[in-house]
Amino acid sequence: MAFDFRGGKRERLSVSKVSKSSWTPMDDWRYKYASKSVQLPPEITEKVTLKALETGYRHIDSAKYYANEKECAVAMKKSGIDRSKIFFTTKVPASSMSYEKAKEAIEQSVAAADLGYIDLILLHAPYGGKEGRLGAWRALVEAQKAGHVRSIGVSNYGIHHLEELEEYINSGVGGQISVGQYEIHPWCAREDIVAWLKKRNVVVEAYSPLVQAQRMDEPVLQNLAKKHNKTGAQILIRWSLQKGYVPLPKSVTDSRIVENTQVFDFELSGEDMESLNTGIYAPVCWDPAKDVPL
Ligand SMILES: NC(=O)c1ccc[n+]([C@@H]2O[C@H](COP(=O)([O-])OP(=O)(O)OC[C@H]3O[C@@H](n4cnc5c(N)ncnc54)[C@H](OP(=O)(O)O)[C@@H]3O)[C@@H](O)[C@H]2O)c1
Repeated sequence: MAFDFRGGKRERLSVSKVSKSSWTPMDDWRYKYASKSVQLPPEITEKVTLKALETGYRHIDSAKYYANEKECAVAMKKSGIDRSKIFFTTKVPASSMSYEKAKEAIEQSVAAADLGYIDLILLHAPYGGKEGRLGAWRALVEAQKAGHVRSIGVSNYGIHHLEELEEYINSGVGGQISVGQYEIHPWCAREDIVAWLKKRNVVVEAYSPLVQAQRMDEPVLQNLAKKHNKTGAQILIRWSLQKGYVPLPKSVTDSRIVENTQVFDFELSGEDMESLNTGIYAPVCWDPAKDVPL
């Protein structure tokens, strides 16, 4: 297919409640509120995912927490596209951050997707305390050895969590952090974490790359959109690509699903990129990388 980036798209569905001392109902509310999570019937996920696949997207970013792994996988199968050409990601929930719970969550995700294997499983967020985080990683490593998942990684890990994990990996448990997924856009650039990851050749995925559509009217974005005859969304995706990230734009709107792929016929100049260097740190989603201590 024409796209050389893995545009992600999917929708969150009914989000199950979680209860664990380290992941409180308030965290649950905060995440859902911050991410504007909506409850949609499963057929929306299937339909929207199918539209994305038909349009050329080849990366589906799901999560056990989104409760839509099965519907994403059904769309993948219905698309008729060879399994090996689609990259399917899911995540171990924040409420499952221990060896036993992560193992169970992974088994459930593998069964729900029923795709033979999962391309990438991430630890969704660094909750669970040290023992929980490291135990969950060990469960991922075992699942990889068993052939259930090809690559493993983390999401929302701060440098302190990453270093804790790196030490654990080097102590003999093994595994490799192949991907780090973070909220990244010009108003949340996370340059310190990106530098840490890039130094180790970890692929950086950028979630909420459109700032959840909250900054489309920013003059800097509007100016660039006008200059390049593109939309604000296309400028943001292009910024992400030129930074070397894998942007994960989400839309349930057919026209936007298409619009968000039309980013390969122009280039932002060095000056354009510099103008998007806002220096502002204003995440729109949750922020466990910063909020969760060791
Ligand atoms: N690892 C994590 O903790 C984490 C957290 C959050 C998100 N994610 C992943 O990242 C994906 C994207 O993040 P996100 O949904 O938070 O934010 P996003 O992709 O930045 O923004 C989605 C919003 O932008 C709108 N939109 C899409 N294309 C547009 C366009 N061309 N013009 C104007 N508005 C447009 C969408 O509206 P419509 O849908 O109505 O078109 C939706 O309201 C998620 O689906 C999820 O897979 C991961």
